[in-house]
Formats: sequence, C-alpha cells, structure tokens
Amino acid sequence: MTMLRLEGVTANYGHLRALEEMSLSLDEGEILAVLGANGAGKSTLLSLISGELKPSNGKVFFNEVDITHLDPYRRVRQGIALVPEGRHLFASLTVEENLLVGGSTRRAGSWSLDAVYELFPFIKERRRSRGGQLSGGEQQAVAIGRALMSNPALLLLDEVSLGLAPVIVRDLYVGLRAVANEGTTLLVVEQDLTEALGVANQVLCLLDGRVVLTGSPQTLSQSQMMNAYFGDGERARTPGDR
Ligand SMILES: Nc1ncnc2c1ncn2[C@@H]1O[C@H](COP(=O)(O)OP(=O)(O)OP(=O)(O)O)[C@@H](O)[C@H]1O
Ligand SMILES: [Mg+2]
Repeated sequence: MTMLRLEGVTANYGHLRALEEMSLSLDEGEILAVLGANGAGKSTLLSLISGELKPSNGKVFFNEVDITHLDPYRRVRQGIALVPEGRHLFASLTVEENLLVGGSTRRAGSWSLDAVYELFPFIKERRRSRGGQLSGGEQQAVAIGRALMSNPALLLLDEVSLGLAPVIVRDLYVGLRAVANEGTTLLVVEQDLTEALGVANQVLCLLDGRVVLTGSPQTLSQSQMMNAYFGDGERARTPGDR
C-alpha cells in the first residue's frame, strides 16, 4: 500500500524555488534514501512532509488522505515523525526529559523509554545528563529516540551522519535497520552515500530542486548516482565532503 505520495509539489522561499514539480511515492515498509548535494532541496522535502512548510503548488497524501494543509502536530498524531537536521534537542533538559517530550504527542504503539534504551544502550547510561552535555552521536541517538517515542509509521531523518565519526554512524544505522525491521517506513536524507545506500531499497537523487534519478541501489550504477548527485561534468567534490 502507498503510504506517502507527493503530486507535483513545488516549494518556494520568497522568490527562490527550492523544489520544482516533485512527485514521489513510497510504500509501507520501504526505506527510501534521498541523496543530493548542499542546497539540492532535501530538507525542504522533509519540511513539506512534516508540515513545517506548505507547498505553493501540488499535493501531499499520507495513506491516501490529502494532508497538504494539515498542521505538523496533527501529522505526528497520524504517524509522521521528523528527526531534524542538527538534532535540536532541548539543551537544558535531560536525555530522559527530551525523550518524554517526544512522547507527548503520540499514536498508540510499543515505543517507550525502555525500548529506546534497548535500541541505543549508550544513551541509557546518560539518561540523567542534559542535552547540551552529550556528544554529537549521543545527541543524534536521543533525537532519533525522541521521534520514535511518538510511535511513527513514517520516520523522516535529515542527515543522521552529519559531523559524526564513522563508528558512531554505523551504530546509529544498526538501530535504524532494527526500526525498519519492526515495519516502520523510513525516509533517510543523506549527503554521505555509504550508510544510506546500505540500508535503502529505493533511491531518489535531487539536483537543484528536481528529481534527476530514481531506482533501487542494486540496479543503479555508481556513475549514474555521481552524475545525478553533482550534475553531469561537475565533479568538484566527492560525496561526504563538506
Ligand atoms: N528558510 C529558508 N529561506 C530561504 N531559502 C531557503 C531556506 N531554506 C532553504 N533555502 C534554500 O532552498 C534551497 C534548498 O535548501 P534545502 O535546505 O532544502 O537543501 P538541502 O538539500 O537540505 O541542503 P543541505 O545539504 O545543505 O542541508 C537552497 O537554495 C537553500 O538556500
Ligand atoms: Mg538539508
């Protein structure tokens, strides 16, 4: 069954067009990796799905219901949760308090403090520490846990690996794979291709606000993805560079 569908969605910031006529369809249980360079429109796409931003054109459907004009907190109730770029924990609240805030708007479901601590044991030891005292990897785990506390059906993740050591990124993705195995649909935005492609069964590449490539990681070649990522003939950097 189709869980998420975007139909010809366009998003602007003032005169700047950040996404143009974007369409996508994501089935329940899938893991979609959205790839693209700085400014490609990845976070804008997540804002449209979480409801922080309304499109200037086009429609967003969740479980075939038109949610284009639905407020963000109502979308959380329906099962859409966002792990935002930059994590945005409450610095003065403890790990546990941050997680409980995430559970304040929730659907019925099995996520709990204990379940989050089981997923990421290294934050259980830190449960009385404040958000501002955590390492980047711990913050990211708490941010994911906070989103899970709402019992999402669709989990949106914006640049989980940003600025983190590879060994921590691996731990976080082990957790995300377990979340997906429980049946949660994932939409993972990344600039770093390695982990995202390891977990995804669908890939979508954005370039300057347009979809330039879609497919499965098994069938797309490395060079197709590199061209889609940078635009043909524009290989100034390698993925993962900042
Ligand atoms: N709040 C905003 N106001 C004005 N322009 C914005 C705003 N947010 C994003 N933009 C612009 O919209 C375009 C798409 O930005 P977006 O943040 O969606 O890209 P991104 O793919 O997430 O990039 P990054 O990898 O740097 O996070 C960029 O040109 C960006 O400068
Ligand atoms: Mg972004």
